[in-house]
Amino acid sequence: MNYILPGTPWLIAHKSMLGMNRPNKITLNGRDYVLWQNSKGEVFALDNICPHMQAPLHEGWVCAERDTITCPFHALEFDGKGRYLDSNRSLSTLTHPLELTIIDDCVWTYGGCEAKLPIPDTIERRSQGFRFVGVTGHHSVRGDFLSNLLINYDYNHIKGTHRELFKIEANEITNYQTNDYQIKLDQKIIRARNSFKELLINPILGLLPQIYLNRFEYSFPSLNTLVGEFPVGKVLQVIAIYPETENQTKTFTLVYAQSNPVLLALSKPFLLRSAAEIVKQDIMAVESLYPRHPPKIKLPDEKIMFHAEKLYRNWGQ
Ligand code: FES
Ligand SMILES: [Fe+2]
Repeated sequence: MNYILPGTPWLIAHKSMLGMNRPNKITLNGRDYVLWQNSKGEVFALDNICPHMQAPLHEGWVCAERDTITCPFHALEFDGKGRYLDSNRSLSTLTHPLELTIIDDCVWTYGGCEAKLPIPDTIERRSQGFRFVGVTGHHSVRGDFLSNLLINYDYNHIKGTHRELFKIEANEITNYQTNDYQIKLDQKIIRARNSFKELLINPILGLLPQIYLNRFEYSFPSLNTLVGEFPVGKVLQVIAIYPETENQTKTFTLVYAQSNPVLLALSKPFLLRSAAEIVKQDIMAVESLYPRHPPKIKLPDEKIMFHAEKLYRNWGQ
C-alpha cells in the first residue's frame, strides 16, 4: 500500500490499553507490529512477522523474566530490540524494533519514517490539572483515512449524525485560528431539553446545560482534542486516529476530567459511554458513505474541513 502521510507522529496507544506482559497487535500503514508492556511500564514493539517461518508473534506469549516475546509456532524468543535469544542465551539481531516515544503514557511512533512533524504537546498541555478517566471508542473503522479525518473537522454533521444525542438547536463556530498543522476553534452549542426517558437511558445528558462551549484544538493529522465546559467541571476528549491500511482506520478516545473526585467517580462510566456513543455514530456515518466527490452544496464553516483536506492532499509537496 501507499504509506499515508509519511513523517507523521501517530498516537498508536495509551499504556492502559496494553495490559501487562501480554502481546497486542497493531497495524500501521499496512504493517503489523506486536507491542507489549513489561511490569516496569516499558513498552516494546517489533515487526509482527517471525523471522523464522513468518508466524504472527502477537499470537505468542511474553516471558516476564526476560522481557521477550515467544513465537507461537516453534517457541523461539525475541527481546524488545528484535534480538533472537537462543538456547545458550546468546543474542543476535534478526528482526527490527519499531521505534516508540512515550509521553505521559501515550505511545507515539513515526512508523519507521523520518520525522517531518514534531510530536504535538497538545495532550500534555491540555490535560494539565485533569485526571485521566480512561480509553473508550476503540474501533477499527471500515473507511479510508481521509474520510475518518474529515468527519472530525465537519461542524455540520452534528445536526444529522448526532441529532438524537445532542438535540442541537444551534451550533456556532468562533475563534477559528490555524497555524499550519495546529487548528483551534470554539463551538457554542444550544440544545433542546432532554425528555425524562432520554435522561433515564443516559443520565450524563442531565449534566449538559442548554448552552455550552467546546474548545477544540487539532494537531493534524493524528489528534482532535476538545474541552467541554459544564457547570460541574470540564471534560477533555482526545480522539486519536491512524491509518491501518488504505481502507481501514483505527480510532480511540482518551477521556480526562476536572471535577469533584466523588462526582468524577460516579460519572466515569457515563463519560466513557457518551464519548463511545459519539464515536459509534461517526463510524456509522463514515462506513455508510459512497465514494467521495466534490460537494455541490456549501454549508457554513466548511473552510475548516477543506483546510484539513488541503493539508492531507499537499502532504510532502
Ligand atoms: S515461525 Fe516463529 S519460531 Fe518458527
Ligand atoms: Fe461526530
